[in-house]
Amino acid sequence: MTAARQRILSGVKPTADSLHLGNYIGAVRQWVAMQDQYEAVFFIPDLHAITVDFDPAALATRTRTVAAQYIAAGVDPEKAIFFVQSHVPEHAELAWVLNCLTGFGEASRMTQFKDKTAKSGSDAATLGLFAYPTLMAADILLYQADLVPVGEDQRQHLELTRTLANRFNTRFGETFTVPEATILKETAKIYDLQNPAAKMSKTGESPNGAIQLLEDPKIAAKRIKSAVTDDGTEIRFDAEAKPGVSNLLTIYSSLTGRSIAELEEAYAGKMYGHLKVDLAEVMVDFVTPLRARTAELLDDPAELDRLLAHGAQRARAIASVTLQDVYNKVGLLAPATAGR
Ligand code: TYM
Repeated sequence: MTAARQRILSGVKPTADSLHLGNYIGAVRQWVAMQDQYEAVFFIPDLHAITVDFDPAALATRTRTVAAQYIAAGVDPEKAIFFVQSHVPEHAELAWVLNCLTGFGEASRMTQFKDKTAKSGSDAATLGLFAYPTLMAADILLYQADLVPVGEDQRQHLELTRTLANRFNTRFGETFTVPEATILKETAKIYDLQNPAAKMSKTGESPNGAIQLLEDPKIAAKRIKSAVTDDGTEIRFDAEAKPGVSNLLTIYSSLTGRSIAELEEAYAGKMYGHLKVDLAEVMVDFVTPLRARTAELLDDPAELDRLLAHGAQRARAIASVTLQDVYNKVGLLAPATAGR
């Protein structure tokens, strides 16, 4: 008998019209590389998307778009369990139990919550946003995931997930696998092209700072060419002294598989402009087929929905077992089967 494979799990929120390059390099690319070796669970956290302001019509469209982008980027819906979070009610149900085991102060210390409320003010922040990390913990713990491949910005959420798993196990008996974050050092944080001190994000200050994978490839090329670079002329990786150029080298290396050292050697004595022109071309070659494949998948929403329904069924088979165990351990009375 072969030992059971370890399980990985991750997701990207459907809060924009397209995944951006940071989502791909920081997360989705790792998933695709890992899905053969591990049992994989990749889902679309739509319940997380409504923790901030949202538009209902856009949410549904974006959910399908993210699903199509996963597949276009290489997620295999036959291998990986691939579904939409709200199609598996156990996520919200386990989150409730975890909410009741999480301290108010503990949740208040989550930096993403603090950052978001600092921007919008605490009256605009919802209880949903406050409980965001416990829903994320539920996502992970329901499937007994061993590894969670994410970017650096999710590290604290993973820490809380581990704390809650240990807390539950100690109080109610061994129930959850305590997961670990898989954060690749080199690509943990892709920076904004206009402001290399900030991470590339859906809500960056300038739209030119991010590359949206579904935008016209010409725009992606333009954004690379107009990326902010640093003083001096030398092309070498130095995150402190040369954050702009280092970010471009990280992106270049990640999309081509060429090592940073190899790129530094290839560009020795050349100008920033050369690097940008070449990387712009790499970017066009990368986004063009990805965009075409996404469009093709979105042209057949019924097939996409069928894949998601199949995935939700597979997900529920696992999630319902964990939830039932949790309910029993917590002492929630099991309903009698309806008879007479
Ligand atoms: P989200 O939707 O903000 O981002 C999705 C993934 O992309 C990574 N990422 C980046 N990586 C490198 N550089 C960047 N500039 C960059 N920007 C984003 C994120 O780290 C993430 O891995 N809370 C999660 C969604 C989620 C989830 C989960 C993830 C909900 N439940 C369970 C894992 C497991 C989030 O907001 O990701």
